[in-house]
Amino acid sequence: MELPWAEPYRIKMVESIARSTREQREEWIKRSKYNLFKLNSDEVFIDLLTDSGTGAMSDAQWAALMTGDESYAGSRSYRMLHKSVEEITGFPLLLPVHQGRAAENVLFSVLLKEDMVIPGNAHFDTTKGHIEMRRAHAVDCTIDEAYDIYDAHPFKGNIDLEKLERVYKEHDKERIPFCLITVTCNTSGGQPVSMENIRAVKELSDRYGVPVWFDAARYAENAYFIQQREEGYAEKSVREIVREMFSYGQGMTMSSKKDGLVNIGGFIALRDEEIYRAASNFTIIYEGYVTYGGMSGRDMAALAVGLQESAGEDYLETRIEQVRYLGEKLHEAGVPIQYPVGGHAVFVDATKFLPNVPKEEYIAQTLAIELYLEAGVRGVEIGTLLADRDPETRENRYPRLELLRLALPRRTYTNNHMDYVAAALIRVYERREEITKGYKIVYEPEILRHFSVELEKN
Ligand code: F0G
Repeated sequence: MELPWAEPYRIKMVESIARSTREQREEWIKRSKYNLFKLNSDEVFIDLLTDSGTGAMSDAQWAALMTGDESYAGSRSYRMLHKSVEEITGFPLLLPVHQGRAAENVLFSVLLKEDMVIPGNAHFDTTKGHIEMRRAHAVDCTIDEAYDIYDAHPFKGNIDLEKLERVYKEHDKERIPFCLITVTCNTSGGQPVSMENIRAVKELSDRYGVPVWFDAARYAENAYFIQQREEGYAEKSVREIVREMFSYGQGMTMSSKKDGLVNIGGFIALRDEEIYRAASNFTIIYEGYVTYGGMSGRDMAALAVGLQESAGEDYLETRIEQVRYLGEKLHEAGVPIQYPVGGHAVFVDATKFLPNVPKEEYIAQTLAIELYLEAGVRGVEIGTLLADRDPETRENRYPRLELLRLALPRRTYTNNHMDYVAAALIRVYERREEITKGYKIVYEPEILRHFSVELEKN
């Protein structure tokens, strides 16, 4: 008999999580105005709201934490982080910041001006927020296959080169400060970008004089997919693949809360001295001095170790396989999900799942609420609420995919938890025909409305 697969770690510390009754959950979600962000965490049994900052650190990271150097300037922990970032990414210059969106804020303060155009593969919502706040425009050039959940394309995060070239032809070079490749592409389902595509984007962008930057929050997961799926990479290590990916970019913004394997933090890593200097000023204004940028020394030390661990192949296999395990269970039961399954989350197609709820009533949010009521599992809407209103017309933007995301924190839950989540969602699926009504908005802010929107039942 072949030996079964098992996780390459054991558990040193446990954290209790609380079950609840449906009655309790009905009261809690009503009090939360049907916005899952407003729930208290102890009202959630299994929390798949995000994989961001919710993972478990290793014993080596906790040990590094104790060695943190909290000096304001020239901290040893900063130097340790710098060495780790340069070794993994190849970028020689580093600016730590407190999280990914802070990296966007600092970098875009240098590179973006009103009316500029930033092409890429489905920019993340804070990225888009930072672009639109500066009255610039994010243009989604993701391949069409990404929007067909059953298309088996192995790299549904890829950029469509024709769409990209159209952007390059339509606008003056001065108006396109960079092309942004998000690895993996969160918005299209944690879908990877192939090396071939990254290389082609780089070549095309070079021809038009446009630099390439990475939103690299999940770069290690992307590299693992390249190793597993792309011809010519099976024999390469994840570390080699990461170095090659980044060799095509001028720099990266990073949310360390994902593939940095820490609970808070971020950075900008880059090659260009001039941009580094300009960004240093914004770092000092918005974040903190350049050798800490909003992070404590101990957090930088833990991140330095986390970056090394997340390039580990055993770790990545465990991580990606768990996401696939949940995805396959749902897929086998007929639940419509973005397929093949991405790196950090399973994305459920809410429009196909709940055919009787009108799109004006926020289908994916309705499904997220149903799953919470069913079993205390918290997912997140990646649909019309998240897509926000058009900044000019103020009309709802209906995205091409209306999704419920079940994001898996790293090294946190077991496959028993995955069985529970799958069973809960399948139970909702079995009574999908009865769900005919969604929600209406009673309050929303100007931008990034999904965090604070308040809803009422229709
Ligand atoms: N870029 C991507 C691709 C992201 O997924 C995120 C965050 C950010 C940038 C911003 O980073 O949160 O550290 O400020 N994504 C989280 C999520 C919030 O749940 O997907 P941050």
